[in-house]
Amino acid sequence: MSVPLILVTCRQMQVELPQHRDRIEKLGYEVVAPDLAGRQQFTAAELLAYGGDRLVGIIAGDDELDRTFFDGAPKLKTVIRWGIGMDSVDHDAARNHGVTVRNTPGVFGREVADSAFGYILNLVRGYIEVDAAVRRGEWPKSEGITLAGAQLGIVGFGVIGREIAKRAKGFDMDVVAYDPFITGQTDVPIVDLEKLLAISRFIILACPLTPETFHLINAERLALARPDAYLVNVARGPVVAEQDLIAALKGGRLAGAALDVFEVEPLPLDSELRTLPNVVLGAHNGSNTREGVVRASNAAVDFLIEELTR
Ligand SMILES: NC(=O)c1ccc[n+]([C@@H]2O[C@H](COP(=O)([O-])OP(=O)(O)OC[C@H]3O[C@@H](n4cnc5c(N)ncnc54)[C@H](O)[C@@H]3O)[C@@H](O)[C@H]2O)c1
Repeated sequence: MSVPLILVTCRQMQVELPQHRDRIEKLGYEVVAPDLAGRQQFTAAELLAYGGDRLVGIIAGDDELDRTFFDGAPKLKTVIRWGIGMDSVDHDAARNHGVTVRNTPGVFGREVADSAFGYILNLVRGYIEVDAAVRRGEWPKSEGITLAGAQLGIVGFGVIGREIAKRAKGFDMDVVAYDPFITGQTDVPIVDLEKLLAISRFIILACPLTPETFHLINAERLALARPDAYLVNVARGPVVAEQDLIAALKGGRLAGAALDVFEVEPLPLDSELRTLPNVVLGAHNGSNTREGVVRASNAAVDFLIEELTR
């Protein structure tokens, strides 16, 4: 009889796998952690090539878990999405095949909020440019912006959004948030998106990618923003219509942007974003700290075993 297969495809989880492999294998599964070779995700066809007919579980990163993936893995019981975003999973297909899909909620609030502030500080104080200039032998005096008293607007007031708010208050900033699903009391005023865009000097995206948030920030919405506003996206690339953002940045309709995430990742070599001076670019590392990786990996393996032994 063929041994049931567990795939571990999330790169950060693969680093932690030696701590967990025994625990999974003892239950009678073969664990395979295929090499991503510097890429961020596998296609469905690539995943199935490892043994779709005996695949029972996967701890996935941003892999393409579409209908063909679920069709090609008839014994699959569970998908554990390492991290938070569930946008790479075809949830209808999973449901039709009776496959449970879980993420590791709440594991990265502080890490991504720290990153959001790293981006904000870089945008307004130009540390990256100053560092480069000093290395070249220059001694620039770049004038920044005081964060205290500046208005910050958070789109998506969940685990990450609330940690961003905490930090913003630590910087003595004024904070509002937009989140259509918030009910009850919050310690931050909840406003509509149009108001948030109109008043905020810093617009921080911390919502999930869903059909409703796809291109939420487009030309029309960017036109509502202050021309001296900065956009920080630590959510998902497609929440922003990238071409509209590029046009706004080039046209002086927005002061700057910091992007941890992009519509296509890795960012294509010919992306115009690489050429814009008022942009800080990341590589989707908002959550990537040692402590965060350990926390998410522990949760992912616990959830995998819970689902397989249910
Ligand atoms: N950059 C990174 O490395 C990184 C790491 C982790 C998570 N993320 C992204 O951040 C997102 C948020 O993570 P979280 O842990 O805070 O999740 P969460 O579920 O705790 O919070 C998400 C919040 O967004 C709100 N929301 C849903 N639809 C919305 C909409 N249309 N407009 C505004 N708000 C909306 C929800 O009501 C919820 O309060 C994730 O879905 C993921 O895509 C990015």
